[in-house]
Amino acid sequence: MTRACRHLHLPLLTSLACALLFAASAGVTRAGPQEDLQIYQDFFKKRFPTLSVEDLSNGAYSFSEDKKKQWLDIMEFPPYEVAIEEGKTLFETPFANGKTYGSCLDQGGIGIAHTYPRFDKATGKVVALAGALNACRAANGEKTLSTFKGDLANIAAYLTSTSRGKPITVTVPDDPKALAAYEDGKRIYFTRRGPREFACYHCHWVAAGARIRGNELSTAVGQATHFPTYRSKWGEMGTLQRRYKGCMENTGAVALKENSDGMNNLEYFHTYMSNGIPMNAPGTRF
Ligand code: HEC
Repeated sequence: MTRACRHLHLPLLTSLACALLFAASAGVTRAGPQEDLQIYQDFFKKRFPTLSVEDLSNGAYSFSEDKKKQWLDIMEFPPYEVAIEEGKTLFETPFANGKTYGSCLDQGGIGIAHTYPRFDKATGKVVALAGALNACRAANGEKTLSTFKGDLANIAAYLTSTSRGKPITVTVPDDPKALAAYEDGKRIYFTRRGPREFACYHCHWVAAGARIRGNELSTAVGQATHFPTYRSKWGEMGTLQRRYKGCMENTGAVALKENSDGMNNLEYFHTYMSNGIPMNAPGTRF
């Protein structure tokens, strides 16, 4: 452990985590997003040398033969197919004013999902895909909807299906506000929360591959590639932010609000970590 880490007085931290936290907090090594990405992806490559990045994007199933088999059985008739169909119809149905969702999005929304969340220069904020759809509704005089589930998650299922196979390409433009949003997401990722003081990073980084209450823990890198996801537990589609909420509440913490700056920044950082890995959304999970 480096001297810097002893100074932080965090005995639970591994030296890698410490180095990352130190770089993030002390301002000594101002690593940018690209350097972070290299460090994070290299970390998981070294830790799980037999797993490809695609394996990582299959999440916990890459750590359990038995569950992987069950999952592959489900994938023969993927439950998200219905959501893709419904989402396509909703996406193409005009608003009361005659405009469509496509009018608000680049390329009419087709083949762009793998570039979300995006930093929006006009507002200086990060927008996730479901948030962009909601903003489009508001701009066209329609009432906003949940960004966790329902119509917007189904539309996101359709839009991500048009990006399937494309590498996740989240960009942090050279703009202080974009960098600040990325850093905020990173801070949230590494922040301990709730009575048990768990950070995302404890489970999906330090303990990745290990089991917790019968569940293998997936790796942070690769997690964002298959959302929205149909979860048997939900019986429907849910967005990444819905999953974040679940993880926050499972540890007894109060979850951040959907489509809040914090959630969007967390999704920005978290999805950026999967840059370069092919999108395989929508997904399905137990
Ligand atoms: C106490 C441990 C714990 C903490 C802390 C935790 N999670 Fe999880 N998380 C789990 C478990 C268990 C699962 C289900 C198994 C899996 O896929 O890893 C899960 C699943 C996920 C998934 C779905 C992965 C997939 O392939 O579908 C995402 C995304 C996720 N967590 C993100 C987060 C984020 C972001 C945070 C911090 C806000 C967080 N988690 C905090 C335990 C945790």
